[in-house]
Amino acid sequence: MRIRAEHLNYTYNPGTEFAVQALKDVSLTIEEGEFFGVVGHTGSGKSTFIQHLNGLILQPSAQKKYKPKKPKKGAPVPPPSLLHVGDFDLLDKKTDFRALRAKVGMVFQYPEHQLFAETVFDDVAFGLKNFAKEPLKGETVERAVKDALETVGLDYAAIKDRSPFDLSGGQKRRVAIAGVIVTRPEVLVLDEPAAGLDPLGKRELMSLLHRLHADWCKTVVFVSHDMDEVAQNCSRVAVFADGGVKYTLTPRELFSRFGDLEELGLELPAAAKVARLLHEKGIDIESDCTPDGFADAAAAYLSSLRKETPAQPRDGEGGQA
Ligand SMILES: Nc1ncnc2c1ncn2[C@@H]1O[C@H](COP(=O)(O)OP(=O)(O)O)[C@@H](O)[C@H]1O
Ligand SMILES: [Mg+2]
Repeated sequence: MRIRAEHLNYTYNPGTEFAVQALKDVSLTIEEGEFFGVVGHTGSGKSTFIQHLNGLILQPSAQKKYKPKKPKKGAPVPPPSLLHVGDFDLLDKKTDFRALRAKVGMVFQYPEHQLFAETVFDDVAFGLKNFAKEPLKGETVERAVKDALETVGLDYAAIKDRSPFDLSGGQKRRVAIAGVIVTRPEVLVLDEPAAGLDPLGKRELMSLLHRLHADWCKTVVFVSHDMDEVAQNCSRVAVFADGGVKYTLTPRELFSRFGDLEELGLELPAAAKVARLLHEKGIDIESDCTPDGFADAAAAYLSSLRKETPAQPRDGEGGQA
């Protein structure tokens, strides 16, 4: 399912003194099959945008009580908004949002805070039963819950009867993710999925997301503020700033814009920081800004120097090829 947003706006508490325009003319297309990153400073609209994707936040036109307003005479006509996820039109109140939610799984920030059932099994089964049109057979539920728990790397027999509250932080998060993927969504959307985990936990979580992307959900969209995570994982990235999409590009393109990133209040990945220091010394190493990619590019650079050196001694200008 392709995700397509055009000229999307969203205001919290419209018409009140607490009104906040969180999205301003957002246009963004995420193709089916992408592993897509969303970055941007705090308050830039990332969470508001992604919560649109499964209809958790509804545009006014998608709400039951919506009646189109007559445009004011002489007022400028804004460009028409559009929000499609696959064939679902998310601006239309006739859309079956329940069917949409079964296809677009949403993992909130700190999803473990939403665990509630007495056992891990019941927690994961809840998501499934909630979306089923008809009551499901016990064995169907059991198979789906087992599949989901094993897919997130948990031992089904050992964990199914435990209380979710007695698990470790990382296990809780996995259970929460299992509760979302149990409906086999085509699109998986996650808000800062690795937030609060230690470096090993973060790596394991990203590798879980890649596993899910490979054989469970076609498209993965995740919000992150960790630029190393983004550099190492995404096919493309959207950079949000002040409610709008500033850029949509590959991590490699993104991290070559040192200055722009700083202006947007974003950190650089570690490899890009080193690349920038070297750039200031006149050495340009172009890499994808992953640790491995950077190491390879640096090694290639060094070996090119070694080849050049005997024939063409440098005069201290080195590297500005
Ligand atoms: N429930 C809400 N009510 C009112 N304003 C909100 C609400 N949620 C977010 N906002 C505001 O909307 C803007 C965008 O927030 P958000 O989408 O959460 O950004 P991000 O996820 O990038 O940090 C911010 O100004 C934020 O304060
Ligand atoms: Mg957020």
